[in-house]
Amino acid sequence: MQIELTGHEALIFKKIARAAEDLSMPCYLIGGFVRDKLLGRPTKDADIVCIGDGIKLAHEVAELFNPKPAVAYFKNFGTAQIKIPGLEIEFVGARKESYAPDSRKPAVETGTLEDDLNRRDFTINTLAISLNKNDYGEVVDAFNGIQHLHEKIIKTPLEPVTTFSDDPLRMMRAIRFATQLGFTIETGTFNAIKKDAERIKIISQERITDELNKIMLAEKPSVGWFLLRDSGLLQIIFPKLLELQGAEYIDGIGHKDNFTHTLQVLDNMAAKTDDLWLRWAALLHDIAKPATKRFSKEEGWTFHGHEAVGARMVPKIFARLKLPQNEKMRLVQKLVALHLRPISLTKENITDSAIRRLLFDAGNDIDALMMLCEADITSKNRIKVKRYLSNFEIVRKRLIEVEEKDKIRNWQPPITGEIIMETFGLPPGRQIGIIKDAIREAILDGEIPNDYEAAYNLMIEKAAVLNLKPLA
Ligand code: CTP
Repeated sequence: MQIELTGHEALIFKKIARAAEDLSMPCYLIGGFVRDKLLGRPTKDADIVCIGDGIKLAHEVAELFNPKPAVAYFKNFGTAQIKIPGLEIEFVGARKESYAPDSRKPAVETGTLEDDLNRRDFTINTLAISLNKNDYGEVVDAFNGIQHLHEKIIKTPLEPVTTFSDDPLRMMRAIRFATQLGFTIETGTFNAIKKDAERIKIISQERITDELNKIMLAEKPSVGWFLLRDSGLLQIIFPKLLELQGAEYIDGIGHKDNFTHTLQVLDNMAAKTDDLWLRWAALLHDIAKPATKRFSKEEGWTFHGHEAVGARMVPKIFARLKLPQNEKMRLVQKLVALHLRPISLTKENITDSAIRRLLFDAGNDIDALMMLCEADITSKNRIKVKRYLSNFEIVRKRLIEVEEKDKIRNWQPPITGEIIMETFGLPPGRQIGIIKDAIREAILDGEIPNDYEAAYNLMIEKAAVLNLKPLA
């Protein structure tokens, strides 16, 4: 099969071909670039394998561009990279790699193209396009990769046990590609993952989490999480999530399976936003349900406080998964903590002060929170779904009305901690917090107007109770 390389990339590949010819060094486009080209997916990186020294080829290629791009190279790995606008190109000499069974450190030897293809992860990633004069554009398909692209199959080129033992992360990669591309993992390959799942333990958490994030960013991330469960990998890499699984029955009363529910919420969220962190919030919103589950004759199954307990679990989960400990984590925490609040506002006779409180607590994340609440509707009963959605529509309207009137979203009370300290000549301390909270609560509850004078008077009043007098 011949592939026509067209457009702006074609000129780049011609230059690579010229440099390779000058060096008498056969070279091929390989891996993800070829796979994605054949699938019609956008590509930004291209890998080039040459039979020889990849770093030398990269330098030769760089000479052919004006301006000349920098060559970043790693002598130890024999790889080099150049960045051309719109394309990052990585060069490497063909290798024959073998790994010691309990180590990630490969013993690298130079090899033929065939050796290099043999050591790759999946047949769809072993496709190569020749950049050589005699057969420019010819596809090298040693493992039926093209057929597997058509059949939508993820399959290892060698015995799966061999391919996975070379790099156990590939078990996660199989699931990630299946999720991203909507492909099926071939039975033998999937059985090998089941059998060898434990070996994922030798892989660094950063590499595992990279794959998890790619699964999370797919169109339908639930596919990946179900495959992780079915392969046995989930039990090892994120057992807390698996605890959501199952429905218990007492006296004939059951509760829903929170694993399936959570993944449905995640897919709903994914349909609304590409934001990775909002998707993580969806995955974790009910994470404390197993920890808070109770049964009573009067109430049936309850999960009281799961939102607060769940929010407290988020930092631990982020730390374990080596996800960032920053404002992204705090956003996830906040959304988990607040995810039941808008539901409580769908009841009748909700006061402005309840709406103000939510606006104050959610701040700029109110829209993300409403998105999560809507994603959280997973009933199969269409009439119910319609009713819940229209209730949230009402809450959204009220939020807009109250925000227009009271401007609470990014609001700070008119009396700050500094003003309190100056007025009473106090150092920072507990009393400042007590007075500040009282003022904020009174304004949110509508007991005093949202202005400086009313807040000042209340400050004097509350301070008197604490035996504080203003400085003269
Ligand atoms: N590869 C492999 N085993 C790995 C990682 C990568 O065999 N554990 C090979 C595959 O042939 C892959 C190529 O190296 O196609 C490039 O790897 P990478 O850039 O990580 O993946 P892509 O396939 O390009 O896909 P993506 O960019 O979506 O990660």
